This record gives sequence, C-alpha cells and structure tokens, in this order.
Amino acid sequence: KKAQIGVTGLAVMGANLARNLARHGYTVALHNRSVAKTDALLAEHGQDGDFIRTETLQELVDSLEKPRRILIMVKAGAPVDAVIDQLVPLLDPDDIIIDGGNSHYPDTIRREKDLAEKNLHFVGVGVSGGEEGALNGPSIMPGGSKKSYESLGPLLEDISAKAEDGTPCCAWIGTDGAGHFVKMVHNGIEYADMQVIGEAYELLRDVAGLEPGDQAATFAQWNETELASYLIEITAEVLKQVDAKTGKPLVDVIVDAAGMKGTGTWTVMSALELGSPVTGIAESVFARALSSTERDTRLEAQETLAAGVRETDTVGDEAFVEDVRRALYCSKLVAYAQGMEMLATASAENNWDLQLDTIASLWRAGCIIRAELLQDIMAAYKGGAEPRNLLFAPAFQKAIEEYLPSWRRVVVEATERGIPAPVFSSSLAYYDGLRRPRLNAALTQGLRDYFGAHTYGRIDAEGAYHTLWSGDRSEVEA
Ligand code: 6PG
Repeated sequence: KKAQIGVTGLAVMGANLARNLARHGYTVALHNRSVAKTDALLAEHGQDGDFIRTETLQELVDSLEKPRRILIMVKAGAPVDAVIDQLVPLLDPDDIIIDGGNSHYPDTIRREKDLAEKNLHFVGVGVSGGEEGALNGPSIMPGGSKKSYESLGPLLEDISAKAEDGTPCCAWIGTDGAGHFVKMVHNGIEYADMQVIGEAYELLRDVAGLEPGDQAATFAQWNETELASYLIEITAEVLKQVDAKTGKPLVDVIVDAAGMKGTGTWTVMSALELGSPVTGIAESVFARALSSTERDTRLEAQETLAAGVRETDTVGDEAFVEDVRRALYCSKLVAYAQGMEMLATASAENNWDLQLDTIASLWRAGCIIRAELLQDIMAAYKGGAEPRNLLFAPAFQKAIEEYLPSWRRVVVEATERGIPAPVFSSSLAYYDGLRRPRLNAALTQGLRDYFGAHTYGRIDAEGAYHTLWSGDRSEVEA
C-alpha cells in the first residue's frame, strides 16, 4: 500500500500534522533525520491511523503514490533548502514539495521558481494554530501553482479547521509566495492583537486598579462582546493563573521581555518596502524590542528619566473599563485595516490577485487571530465590495464613530499618567491622519525642496515646482 502523503521533519508541528492527516484516513509516510523521533511518534500515536515508517528520504519517496506529495516541516531557512536539495534528485515530474513552516516568502518565491524549472511543484503553505491547531485543525494558507492545489487542496481542506458555517479554513491563496506572505501578515496582525491586549491590561491594572485575577473576569466578559476571540479568551486564562512557587499571579513572575521569532519583523520590513503604513504592527514589533533588547537601557532609565506625570488618585471606574474595551476594539480594527491594505498592495505588486474576503474567511477558525470580528471583515469584502480601506465599510465606520470618544479619552489618560500605549495611540494617529483634510506633509515637501531641491506639487496646478530658496525665492517649474 502506498501513502498519499509523506511528512519529513517530525518535531511537534510536523508530528501533529501527520497525525491529523492519519486521523482523516490518509496513509501517511513518516520520515525524520533521526529515526528515533519517527519511532517515538509511532510508539505514542501509531494508533491514530495508517502510517508508513521510513528511514531514508529514498524510502519516503518510494512509499508514496504519484504524483507524490511531500510535506517538509523543518526549521525555516537553510534546513528547508537542504531537504529540497536532497529530495529533488529522487522525484519525478509533477511531484509536489510542500513547505509548511514559517518560511520567509521571498525564499518561497525563489524555491518555487527553481523547482518549476525542474517540472516539480513547490507549495509554500502558511499554517496557523500552533501545536493544538496542527493536530485538530489549523488555518491553512497554501500558495504555489493552481494545478498543485487540485491534487493537494482536498487533503489540506480535510484536515483544516472549519468555520462555524462548516467551510474549511483552507483555500488556494495565490501563486508562489502568496501563502507564506499571507501567513506572515497574519503573524503581524497577531503581534498587534497581542499588543493591544497588553495595553488594555496595563491600563486596567494601573488606572482601574484591577489585579490580574479580577481582570481574568473582565477579559472573560469581553469575550462575550464583539471582541470575542481566541487571544482574549486565553488572556483570561493566563491572567488567572497563580504561580505555585510564590502564590503571586503568574504574570507577575514572568520576565517582561517579549521574544519573537521574526515573522512580525518580516511583516514590517515588507511593509516598509511596499510603503504600506502598518503602524500598529510596527509599534508592536518595536514594543517587543523595547522590552527585551533594551532591557539594560530600561533599568538605567528607571533611575534617571523623569516621569512628569499628572498626579492623580482617581481610580478608573466601570466607565473607564468600558472605554478601554472600546479603545482596544478600535485599535484592533485599525491593525486589521492596515494589514488588509498591505495585502492588497502586495497583491497588486506580485500579481497574486489575493481575495481579501477569502483570506478573512480562512482566519475565522483554527488560527491564532481567530475572532468574531473576522466574520464582519469577511462580510465587508464580500461579493466584490472592496472598500478602499476596511474602516470605510459602513458597519465599521459606525462602530468607530460610536467608540471614538472612549478611544480618545483612553489615549489621553494613558499619556497623562505616563503609561505607554503605543498601538492605541498610533492607531488613533493613523485614523486621524486618514481623516484630516490637510497633512503636515506639505511642510515636509517645503523643507525637502529647501535643502535638496526635491520639488513639490501645487494644489492648484499640475507638475513639479521648485522655489529658488537661495536666489530671489521665486518659483520655477521643474
Ligand atoms: C501561528 C503562530 C505561530 C508561532 C509564531 C509565534 O499562527 O500558529 O503565529 O506561527 O507561534 O511564530 O511568533 P513569535 O515567536 O514571533 O511571537
């Protein structure tokens, strides 16, 4: 009996995807560089379904039906290239190599191009949902050729999470690196999503005086509102956890230095290249950097830098808590609006023809950013309705209009008390930046023209102009 799919790389994500496939009735060939891992998986979970144990890549290849489907689940970067190089000589035309790791999309574009020249399909797949999702149904974002999806799509759809209406959270995203790009932006939004939750937590604690245990209840309540989402739900779980060793809230004994594996940074790097203002994601990445790489600077700053805060003993009441909830909602919405706009820009740039409603639909279940809000976002883009910016969708326009006073109050309160709320405040600045009839960019242009003759446009005429700053200050057309 041949296997329908092979998995190489049986660390937890690879192992769980293999088990998920087997549980859905597929025969799965297993391979790992050290056979011990393969054997451990078989010993512990062999009963999940039909597995074929292989020791070498040649055996793995031989155990598969054609066209072969081989899922690589190794660390992003050089290890992926190493496995591809070993596999290629063993494969036949039309075989499909799938990379389910968090690979950087330019690598995926390069690999797809190389393998296409060898008549092989290379499919970069974004997989979200962590270990649990991989086992029980992740959100899956496959790129690569449309043709490869005909053979691979049904398997991936089978093992993916299902939205409430039963639709699989897996659909073909677009050619070459599109799947990994969309997963990357998903992670960027994940960063922003967590950062706004963190800002809310800090304000509830320092302004409303809510201890972590009390906040667990607040977040659980918020999870019953339009904020309902996986990350809000697990925030309640983390906040109610008490440290066994000290009896303190666990969050108080965790070192306040956030780690990151790089996908958020990649999102911001691409956004900078695209000229796409994903301020919420950028502030979230920088907030993590400030917390961790700047640790020593922070220690010194605590001794040396003035606070200059408004002294107050007012404690935020229930109304303030609601204000924070609303500020969180608005800031989160802005992060999504920015992320979606970045996807649209990248889509045009790379000829991906990304379908924003489909992408929103894939994020409804299985992934880390799964949220009620995604249903509304999907609706906003549905049926060719393409608001130029997600915030223009009538439902969101209205919600923000209602919540704006709260959002502004929270930013003022945070600022006056010296509590950093970089995403709450930068999202509001973005919102106001969109809205303002005139931006200070006019002055920037004036300055650029002054020191570098970079020219400027006029509001009342076509063309580019330059003022003879060091001459008689008359204007010339450039
Ligand atoms: C997911 C997660 C997953 C991983 C992130 C964490 O969608 O399942 O995003 O991919 O947990 O890479 O990223 P950081 O380590 O950068 O926070």
